[in-house]
Order: sequence, then C-alpha cells, then structure tokens
Amino acid sequence: MTNQYDFDTIVDRRTSGNSYKWEGMKSAMKENAGNVLAVSTADMDFLTATKIVERLRESARREIFGYTCPTNEYYDAIVNWMQRRHQWRIEKESIALAPGIVSALTYLIHALTEPGDGIVIQPPVYPPFARTIRVLGREQISNPLVNANGCYSIDFDDLEQKAARKNAKLMILCSPHNPVGRVWLRAELEQVADICLRHDVFIISDEIHFDIVFPPHRHTVFPTLDRDLQNRCVVCTSPSKSFNIAGLQVSNIVIPNREIRQKYVDAALYCGFNALNTLAFPACIAAYNECEDWFDKALKYIRQNDQLVRDVLGQRLPNVVISPLQATYLQWLDFSRLGFDALTLRQFLREKAGVFFDDGFLFGDEGKQFERFNLAYPRAVIEEVVRRVAKAANCK
Ligand SMILES: Cc1ncc(COP(=O)(O)O)c(C=O)c1O
Repeated sequence: MTNQYDFDTIVDRRTSGNSYKWEGMKSAMKENAGNVLAVSTADMDFLTATKIVERLRESARREIFGYTCPTNEYYDAIVNWMQRRHQWRIEKESIALAPGIVSALTYLIHALTEPGDGIVIQPPVYPPFARTIRVLGREQISNPLVNANGCYSIDFDDLEQKAARKNAKLMILCSPHNPVGRVWLRAELEQVADICLRHDVFIISDEIHFDIVFPPHRHTVFPTLDRDLQNRCVVCTSPSKSFNIAGLQVSNIVIPNREIRQKYVDAALYCGFNALNTLAFPACIAAYNECEDWFDKALKYIRQNDQLVRDVLGQRLPNVVISPLQATYLQWLDFSRLGFDALTLRQFLREKAGVFFDDGFLFGDEGKQFERFNLAYPRAVIEEVVRRVAKAANCK
C-alpha cells in the first residue's frame, strides 16, 4: 500500500511528456534542457492524495463518462469546507461553476464590465489578470504594491485615486497574493472594501490560495468583512491549488447576489462553458471531505521547504531578498542586488545554475530582477535547487 502522506518521492514529470511546467522548460531551453530543474508554474510535484486517486479510480471503474451534474454531496462538500476552514457560511445556491479561475475571470469581466472599462489590479501579480483584461479590450489600471525590502503593502492613496477614475468599474484582488505571498490583514481588506464601495468599484476576490496560509497568519474571506459586500463582490475558490488537481479543472465561484449570478451564468454560456468534466466532481468531493489531513501535512512540508531555502540562501547568498511567505507555496526572490538585468538573470539561472523559475517580469514591470520559486517539491529537489543557485552565484 502506498504511503498516504508521501511528499518525498520524486515523480518523473520531465519525461512524462504532458506536464505544462516541464514541457515549457524543455521548449524554452531546447538542447540545453538536459538536467535543468523546472520549479516554475504553480502546481505541485507531489503525488496526489491517495483518497482522491481512489475516488477517481472508482469513477473510472463505472466505465461511463457521459454528461454529469453536480450533486448535493458536491455542494455539501464545498459548503462544509468553507465553514470548517474559513468560518464562512455560504448557501449552496450561491455557488457557480467554472472550469478554472482564469476562465471565470473572463466570464466575470464579460458579465460586469463593457469594453473600455477600467479594471484595477495590484502588480506584481498573477499574469493572467493583465492578460485577460487586455484580451477582452478593457483598460488595466495598476495600483502597484509597495515593496519595503521584500515586505509588500498596499498603496491606499494610490488606490483611492485609481478607484476614483471615471471608467474604473472593477478590481481584481489577489488574496492571498501571488507572487508576493502576503495574507492581507483584516484592516487592509477593510480599507480596500471602503475605497471600492465609495467609488462603486465591484470586487472580484481571487482566493484560490486561501487554504495555503501559514500560522500565525489568518486569511479573511473578503465578503465576511461586512454584509453590505455580499452584493458588491464575488469570491473565486477552487480545490485545485491546495490538492494539486488543477488539471481536473474544477472551480467554485461564490456569487451571493442572484442577479449577478445570472449574469455570470449567461456570460459563461456566451463564452462556451456550460458543464464541468465528469471527474471534476469526485475529485473535489474527495479533496474537501477526505483529504484535510493530507493537506495539513503538505502545508507543514512546504513550510519546512521554505525554511530550508531561507537558511541556505540566507547564509550563502545574503544579497538575495526573500519575501516573507505568509501564504501560497510560491517564494518571491529579489535578485536585484546581484546586479544582473532581467534577461541576464534569467540566462544565469537557467544556463549557469540549471534552474528554471518563473521570471518576475512576467508579473509586471515591478517584478524585473525577481524570480518566483515553487516550493511544492520533494525536499531533495529543493535542496538541489538551492545548492545549484548558491554554487553558480558564488563562482560568478
Ligand atoms: C491567483 C491565481 N488565480 C488563478 C490561478 C489559476 O487558476 P485556474 O487554474 O483555476 O485557472 C492561479 C494559478 O496559479 C493563481 O495563482
């Protein structure tokens, strides 16, 4: 029987031929891909929790993959998770489905704005926010985060000005924030809510990382701040990051307001979405109902990986600033003191060190000379990555 909590086994995704992350590294590196370690894109290189795999096997054993609908068991699993983990009471009717949060952002932007409307985001931030805004012909309004030696905060004066712009209709909040790893404090979220409510800016709170929070930090689900917010925001949730099932494409968008929910459903249909895939449901049910202990252990393991990187790089490369990791399994590293420009840094890390991070500039200009390091890997891989970076940098 396999160990239910095995985070140490190195899964060979390099040669599996279908890992977005590893194939991406190979096509970028071409003949130099050889031994390069891909620690980029936010999915985990851990074996999936046994209970999820068992549930999927059980589904496959039935040998039927026709159209499938969400059941009460599905909705109950979500409602109970939100209550248990986040002290957030939701009605099952408020849950709208999506095959991913990036898709949901498209539907929501269609539903809530017109071409030319302005959408506030806080770079450096998850790249598909800006991409979706651009592709849909809306205007990106940036409220850049303030970086004080790796500790990030919100520039509220700037947010006030940006939200006051005539065409500002929507804000996409990343909470917790990818890539800077912040868990927004209740007081910070209250200020965001206050500004957006006063300027009639609707809020999409992307909380896909909200389970992956390290004590003593505590996540606040946005609409729990105040009942008035129920009609002025939606929350994007998913088991995909916490349980590493992004490829099964299951997300739950919580939209308490019935009219807005209807607009969302219409926009999703307009974009061609009307149903989830058959395996999305059992995976989500098993994750939320049966894998909480797996998740808690994964969280501790990731925390130890984070500490390991800080210990080793802190000693051997003190010029690299690592932002405090309050949430997510994505470390944000500032290499600017090494004196490379963004492209030379990328070349140095990929070709000299043999590690493939996500380049910071992908998250906006604010991320130039930064790299994002995915920590959801077996310890041996993390050790090897830091060893390589430290070695390459010391013999520059
Ligand atoms: C903030 C944020 N939103 C959305 C996603 C992706 O969501 P999905 O795979 O459900 O489209 C990610 C993935 O890293 C993310 O970090």
